[in-house]
Formats: sequence, structure tokens, C-alpha cells
Amino acid sequence: MKKGLFISIEGPDGSGKSTQIENIKQFFKDKDIDIVFTREPGGTPIGERIREIILDKNCKEMDSMTEAMLYAAARAQHVNQVIRPALEQKKIVVCDRFVDSSIAYQGYGRRLGESVAIINGFAIGDCMPDVTFLMKLDPTVGRKRIDEKQQDRLEMEKDAFHVSVFKGYLDIEKKNPQRIVGIDASRSINEIKLDIYKKLEEVLKSVAE
Ligand code: ADP
Ligand code: TYD
Repeated sequence: MKKGLFISIEGPDGSGKSTQIENIKQFFKDKDIDIVFTREPGGTPIGERIREIILDKNCKEMDSMTEAMLYAAARAQHVNQVIRPALEQKKIVVCDRFVDSSIAYQGYGRRLGESVAIINGFAIGDCMPDVTFLMKLDPTVGRKRIDEKQQDRLEMEKDAFHVSVFKGYLDIEKKNPQRIVGIDASRSINEIKLDIYKKLEEVLKSVAE
């Protein structure tokens, strides 16, 4: 490895992110390549505590800006404690959600707009993923896959919120064609996996010594 490699996976709730993350882990395992796998919100002991507050169904009165700042606070800790040090050691970091989630959910879903990128600029500095897999699936289809009883505070939001989030993701994809790899997530688990594996092979080649 010439340098570290930072990969993130994004998408609406129920789009198959967790399923494909297992496939991504297997891809690297088959090649005997160690990765640092991590997730947001969370990824550090402090971040996991922040996660509990953000996703708690009882925190109904949480202000949107408070929410955006809590995600960014957890992210600042995550970047500085886990992601940046790993990349400096030329490791591969695979992250379940990163700053694009905040742009989509808080920027578009909560309609906080540009402020979200500004807050997150403080949190991440220049630490951005090299490649982001975006699982593209109509949010109403994704939400039908999730058990209502297990929904967290964000997942419980009404359909209009999730439609805005998805629109946000599509805008992010348009603005970042170099980084974002759009995946048609309405296909079978195996078809999606093969797509992701093909891209991972390319990316690995580009960072190999
Ligand atoms: P996410 O992590 O994005 O919320 P999951 O990977 O947990 O999504 O998937 C949500 C549900 O949909 C799970 O029951 C999973 O088995 C199912 N699922 C995942 N990918 C697909 C797919 N391509 N087609 C149909 N169902 C899927
Ligand atoms: P996650 O645990 O990834 O949920 P899932 O596996 O169901 O996709 O994320 C929890 C929720 O937090 C999810 O609804 C997306 C939301 N979220 C934001 O709103 N902003 C953010 O910055 C992040 C990282 C997540």
C-alpha cells in the first residue's frame, strides 16, 4: 500500500448497507488483508455514548441543530481517535456511514442546508473518504424492509423526511462523481455484491505499490 485507503458506505435506512458491509469484510478476508472496520454514529467509546443519545426514541424534543452537532461531535472524536491514525499507518478503513449521512439526513432531511457542511468541516478537516459506495434505493422500499419495533429515532421519521434524505444523497452523488460509486440497490444481494467487488478490485490496484 502506497497510502491508506478510506472507504465509506452510505444509503437510506433499509437499503442493504449492513448486508453489503458483511460482503465487503469477506472480500478483504478472502485476500488476507486486514482492515479497520468502524461505524457512525459511534466508532469510539465517546461516540457510542453520543450515539445512544441521538438515536434514543425518548429524546423526542431534540432540536435539529443539536442533532447535527452531536453527529459532528461523535465524528470529530472518531476521525481523531480512529480514522486519521489508521490512515497515517497506511491501513484500509471501512466506515459504515460518514459525513455524507449528515449532509443527507441533517442538511436535506432536517433542512439545515449548508450549515451542516460547515459544522462538519470543523469535525473532519481534510479527512474524506477516497471511495463511497452509495446504496441507491427508493426509501419507501427500504423502510418496508425494516421491522417497525426496531426503528430508532431517525428511522421513525415520516416518509417525507426519508424522501428528502434520498434526494440529498442523489445531489451528493451528482456533485462528487469522482468519489461516489452509485449502486442500484434494488437488485439481488449477489448482483450488488459483484458490482462492489469489481470496484474494490480497481481501487485496490490503484493504491497497491
Ligand atoms: P441497512 O443496513 O441499509 O438498514 P440491511 O442490510 O440491514 O439494510 O437490510 C435490511 C433488510 O433488507 C434485511 O432484512 C436484509 O436481509 C434485506 N435485504 C438486504 N439487501 C437486500 C436486497 N438486495 N434485496 C432484498 N432484500 C435485501
Ligand atoms: P445506522 O446505525 O447506520 O442505521 P442503519 O443501519 O439502520 O442504516 O444509523 C443510525 C441512524 O442515524 C440512521 O437513520 C442514519 C442516521 N444518521 C444521521 O442522521 N446523520 C449522520 O451523520 C449519521 C452518521 C447517521
